[in-house]
Amino acid sequence: MIQVQHLSKAFTDPKRGAVRAVDGVSFEVRKGEIFGLLGPNGAGKTTTLRLLATVMTPTAGTAVLNGHDVVRSPGEVRRQIGFLSGDMGLYHRLTPREILAFFGQLNGLDGAALKSRIAEMVALLDMRSFADTKVDQLSTGMRQRVAIARTLIHDPPILILDEPAAGLDVPTARVIEEFILEARRAGKCILLSTHVMEEAEFLCDRIAVIHQGRIRITGTMEELRAATGKQRLRGIFLALLGIDVDTAGRS
Ligand SMILES: Nc1ncnc2c1ncn2[C@@H]1O[C@H](COP(=O)(O)OP(=O)(O)OP(=O)(O)O)[C@@H](O)[C@H]1O
Ligand SMILES: [Mg+2]
Repeated sequence: MIQVQHLSKAFTDPKRGAVRAVDGVSFEVRKGEIFGLLGPNGAGKTTTLRLLATVMTPTAGTAVLNGHDVVRSPGEVRRQIGFLSGDMGLYHRLTPREILAFFGQLNGLDGAALKSRIAEMVALLDMRSFADTKVDQLSTGMRQRVAIARTLIHDPPILILDEPAAGLDVPTARVIEEFILEARRAGKCILLSTHVMEEAEFLCDRIAVIHQGRIRITGTMEELRAATGKQRLRGIFLALLGIDVDTAGRS
């Protein structure tokens, strides 16, 4: 459902010169699969996801989502995806239910269909207790759930989630992880980014480790273990980044 080939994005930074944020990245994500982009800060995760979400255009390479090319048919691509990014603004004077109604209407939902879709999202993301409270009175974890619900109100086949559980406590992260697993059961194609090993290990069918704009390895946990000779993802990750700290045998 997602096919990415040699995708690149370079920025010209006045101080640093040319920055190759994404440098020839290729991968595929299938329907019913959770694929994780795992990388340290500045690795190029957000830039890759923004290219796929048509928020910015690639310098080179191609990406096709559900048959639509990000450069040639960005409008079509946007209809296929729900994109969660870290800098998603919410309207603070509205309640979650009002926000969902607003974005549902923007996406052509109305009447009974809209009402039942909102009820479904409120239940799925466990938002019943705060669905009618103004957003400016909600906690970070509650807001993140609203942001996810808002992203998915039009029930797109592809989910692109940039660090969906970043900054959340364990119970809230669980709600979101359960939601992602449920989306997989419903046959969605899910691409997410994270720098949290445990999250990648727990959620992802396949993982691509990205560092300095390049994918270092792609595979299942088993394949990553075999390739690096490490058991734990933390050790695998550090080994792929060229940092071997396995002195105490704990990685
Ligand atoms: N608009 C921009 N202009 C210039 N450089 C940028 C821009 N956006 C990103 N970069 C650079 O591209 C590189 C990759 O950034 P990106 O945000 O994709 O990393 P990331 O993997 O999402 O990191 P993090 O884990 O910190 O979110 C970094 O060096 C960053 O400074
Ligand atoms: Mg990022």
